[in-house]
Amino acid sequence: MDEYLNRAVRLLGSEFGAPAHTRVFAPGRVNLIGEHIDYNGGRVMPCSLSLGTYAAAARRGDGRIRLVSADMPGETVETDAAQIASLPHESGAFRRFGWAAYPLGVAAKLISRGRGIGGFDMAVMGSLPRGSGLSSSASLEVLTCAVLRELFGFELGGVEAALLSREAEHDCAGVNCGIMDQFICAAGRENSALLLDTGTLEYSYFPFDLGEYTLLIMNTKKPRRLASSKYNERRSECGEALRLLRTAYPEKAALCELTPEEFRAAAHLLPEPLLRRARHAVTENRRTEEAAAALSAGDMTRFGALLNASHDSLRFDYEVTGFELDAIVEAARAHSSVLGARMTGAGFGGCAIAICASSEAEEAKKDIAAVYNEKTGIECEIFTARTADAPFGGMM
Ligand code: GLA
Repeated sequence: MDEYLNRAVRLLGSEFGAPAHTRVFAPGRVNLIGEHIDYNGGRVMPCSLSLGTYAAAARRGDGRIRLVSADMPGETVETDAAQIASLPHESGAFRRFGWAAYPLGVAAKLISRGRGIGGFDMAVMGSLPRGSGLSSSASLEVLTCAVLRELFGFELGGVEAALLSREAEHDCAGVNCGIMDQFICAAGRENSALLLDTGTLEYSYFPFDLGEYTLLIMNTKKPRRLASSKYNERRSECGEALRLLRTAYPEKAALCELTPEEFRAAAHLLPEPLLRRARHAVTENRRTEEAAAALSAGDMTRFGALLNASHDSLRFDYEVTGFELDAIVEAARAHSSVLGARMTGAGFGGCAIAICASSEAEEAKKDIAAVYNEKTGIECEIFTARTADAPFGGMM
């Protein structure tokens, strides 16, 4: 981690001749279970990763803002605080800044919430595998919140940082995402999983302790094309399903407020595919509750079975997996050391996870990669997940 921070400091010096006034790390995330329900008022259970985004930054007296990313050579961006303050947020006005739309979008949100922001130089770099669906954009948004809070000395708590980062994501990326990614990138803690109720924003931490097991992250290396349009499509399907279900349950404000039993009693109100979309949301919420109980009780076999059921629901009911994710999950499940496996994140490519006996993890990584390669022709990347503290984790 220090190595990346040092590289960010050096980049800030070589690009802008500036000394680092602050240096910050923000994690990426992996979601253990509770998928595609953070916009349905459901419960989610992510962890913050030791892979993430790093920044070194310096304040400037002249209002100029300069941003450089080691991962985007030749795409250094220059603007100024007054211009950022005057741009409309929702018209796509920030997209012209390319990758820098995220940090600049966050700066604009902070300004509109009354935080004083002047000029600054910032150098960033990431250690998350590119396009892997481990939340590099949420990580960059939260990183910017933490950097600007330190540089300009204003008060900012983790919940507000997560909420305004999500607003920036909606405006800048056009993805109508839920709150999970920004929340865990802001609030995560080392060696902990976070159980977040996205309906109320109540949350709790509990030890991320898999006993004799290890969490593998398996990157399919399948580019996540079409992911944003399909994501928004799923989100509106859920909205439509809720509208129909409210003829039976007018008091329900979100799909995950229905119990599986209530859902079954009203399922006849829904045509296909809305029936399967809503069934995923309702059953996934229940699985997350059960998974939290299994993890707390150290019942890894049950936890693994719930991961399997989650993937199957995302595959057949929610239809967000695809050939590569299904192939890597099947390869993992077929390995004798694995208790369960599922896709993680938005789907349509990106990563899956598996719970694997620690003593056999190295062998499992090789075997799963070989089976996956035979089926898809793609060299995947499999690594052991490590957790880390997020910048607002101690001050939520
Ligand atoms: C993406 C979104 C999250 C969440 C997941 C699916 O990562 O950013 O809000 O909806 O997909 O669980």
